[in-house]
Amino acid sequence: HRTDYNKYYEINRKAARFFFRKLTEGPNPGYAYLRKRGLKDNTIRKFGLGYAPDSWNALMNHLEKEGVTTQDMLKLGLIQQGRKGYYDKFRNRVIFPIINTAGKVIGFGGRALGDVQPKYLNSSESDIFLKKNNLYALNITKKDISSEDQVLMVEGYMDVISLYQNGIHNVTASLGTALTENQGRLISRYTKNVVLSYDADNAGINAAMRGIDIIRKAECDVRVLQINDGKDPDEFVRKNGKEAFLELIRNAVPATDFRLSVLRRGFDFKSDNQVLEYIRRCVPVMEQLSPVEQDIYIRKLSEEFGISEYAIAGEIRADSGKQA
Ligand code: GTP
Ligand code: MN
Ligand code: MN
Ligand code: MN
Ligand code: MN
Repeated sequence: HRTDYNKYYEINRKAARFFFRKLTEGPNPGYAYLRKRGLKDNTIRKFGLGYAPDSWNALMNHLEKEGVTTQDMLKLGLIQQGRKGYYDKFRNRVIFPIINTAGKVIGFGGRALGDVQPKYLNSSESDIFLKKNNLYALNITKKDISSEDQVLMVEGYMDVISLYQNGIHNVTASLGTALTENQGRLISRYTKNVVLSYDADNAGINAAMRGIDIIRKAECDVRVLQINDGKDPDEFVRKNGKEAFLELIRNAVPATDFRLSVLRRGFDFKSDNQVLEYIRRCVPVMEQLSPVEQDIYIRKLSEEFGISEYAIAGEIRADSGKQA
């Protein structure tokens, strides 16, 4: 099927070039939007960003002239079928081409310029665009991920691009969905050191909790970076700069510390009951650890709460016994 796929990659490439020209050839709302968000011309070029005009058929007409069939445009999700005929899927949006590690354009993400819903649109899934098997911008950043022997996993396209522009190049993102096992395996080909750098909101915390399990399955070490100013890596690095972000990376905590800290939310530890309840909630997390790791966290909890290591280890044994 290789030749078939190449035909589709070629069509996507034509679309990417079209969007890029629309963004860079003359004044347009997409360019104004990206400038307002602080992107420089060479960043726009590096990531091949584009603009889909505010039109129902600009891309369709262009591709038609290039000899692309309606059927192929539909298959790639570049156009959609309505009651009155076909129309461009991406309209008045900034375009993020999604390129695989082999350099093929496999799909597009499109961001609305304002508060239009949905904020982001992605190409529909097809044989050539499987979100679960790909990571954003890895074609550009894989070298840096290997040489730094570390990857920052972020939530959004803009986080990747903004960190990159600010000199932090070992970064990638999933394609608008939760991290998958295949993405874990993909990244583990470049490094075994993963730093989850998700947004500083509940969605980001939950994504990190799930991401930890996924990354562990790929036999990688996981740390979790916590944003303490702004809502995501893009906002943080724009406001505070590269050195401050590097400091966040250095302060990223091991996955277990992160999990135990998330479990603490809502406890005030004013009563023994609260302490007991918290420790019981820590037990399932600690059960997943190696004996030596368990020992480390048992000691930490013991010191913090003045409960004997023996008693905490006993809770873990009792719980493991229940499951066996
Ligand atoms: P900006 O507002 O442009 O900075 O985007 P963001 O990346 O900060 O957005 P957010 O944190 O809300 O979402 C993270 C990622 O989830 C985005 O980059 C998208 O890939 C995806 N996403 C967000 N909103 C939508 C949506 O409305 N539809 C779809 N399909 N994906 C979305
Ligand atoms: Mn670099
Ligand atoms: Mn978010
Ligand atoms: Mn953002
Ligand atoms: Mn965000």
